[in-house]
Amino acid sequence: MNKIKIDPAIADSIKKFTLPDYLGFGQVMGPVMASCTYENGKWSELELLPYGPISMYPNAKVLHYAQEIFEGMKAYRVDGHGPYIFRPDENHLRFNRSAERMAMPHIPFDLFMQANLEVTAYSASCVPKRSGESLYLRPFMFATEEALGIKPSEKFRFMVITSPSGSYFSTGGVSVLIERHGARAFPGGTGYAKAGGNYAASLQAAIKTKQLGFVQTLWLDGKEKKYIEEMSGMNFMAVINNELHTPEINDSILEGITRKSILTLAREAGIKVVERKMDINELILDIKAHRCTEVFACGTAAIIAPIDYLAEETGERIPLRDNEGKMALVLREMLLSIQEGRASDKYNWIVPIEPKHL
Ligand SMILES: Cc1ncc(COP(=O)(O)O)c(C=O)c1O
Repeated sequence: MNKIKIDPAIADSIKKFTLPDYLGFGQVMGPVMASCTYENGKWSELELLPYGPISMYPNAKVLHYAQEIFEGMKAYRVDGHGPYIFRPDENHLRFNRSAERMAMPHIPFDLFMQANLEVTAYSASCVPKRSGESLYLRPFMFATEEALGIKPSEKFRFMVITSPSGSYFSTGGVSVLIERHGARAFPGGTGYAKAGGNYAASLQAAIKTKQLGFVQTLWLDGKEKKYIEEMSGMNFMAVINNELHTPEINDSILEGITRKSILTLAREAGIKVVERKMDINELILDIKAHRCTEVFACGTAAIIAPIDYLAEETGERIPLRDNEGKMALVLREMLLSIQEGRASDKYNWIVPIEPKHL
């Protein structure tokens, strides 16, 4: 393990922290953060600090050219088990894939793990304990070089902040607006990277989706506007003739770790998994003919969220017959019981954390 510098002020910040009863998603911030910097081709020593503001020059490259990437994962501590972090090695691999695409340095495995594990260990008392709740971990890296030239930054900062969180969707089912005009990503672009700019590009559609009374945007491929890609922060799955169908991965889809885990669990449960190009118009026909009985979103934040209906901008709604989400709920329980330490972890997906105190 690398050396780590711990600001003694984190003790006070942890002591002062109380978990509110209602958490929501990403609204309450945990009391500890990790930080280190990259300069002259080297990462500095990792520091643990009380959560708080950071200072930056206004010409830091991230503020102008969006050289920024992030990850999202969760630490669970339910029924006296844990904290457990779910598949952080996968997040590390994806972080470095994103870093490469955005001309940023790789972060070594040990540093990535140490930052996330130490923050979680010192924040153990802040991990909520009710089923479905967790400590959301947000590792991120951004360009800090102070210069306005459009060139890759040579200085970066890597941080981990946390947010004790409840379920992503607070009430009711999820409705999804099919985005037939705009595009989130294109072949050759940055869609497969978890780069902040991709999310900025999805926000205009998010406003439209909300104004029309729906919850999530469903993106189609940027070229033909025909094949389903994903939601702005989740992957997409459908149950068709009792098989689990999902868009095959390409360079404009973010390959979700939840998606990957669900496909493994579904195969284990004897469900046929089909990864293919999914034509939105065919899917609508399948829903109307009741061949497709369930559609759901999956991702770290939402875990698995059954979708009640797809919608068009005209206001047309295409409801799912089985909006109870039978297969979705079975898979959700399979996944969550591993994440929360209630089921055996035969794939070694769980990293247990020993709580630490100052
Ligand atoms: C665009 C996008 N797609 C899919 C996902 C799901 O990925 P994961 O299951 O790794 O959270 C996310 C969330 O990270 C996302 O932001």
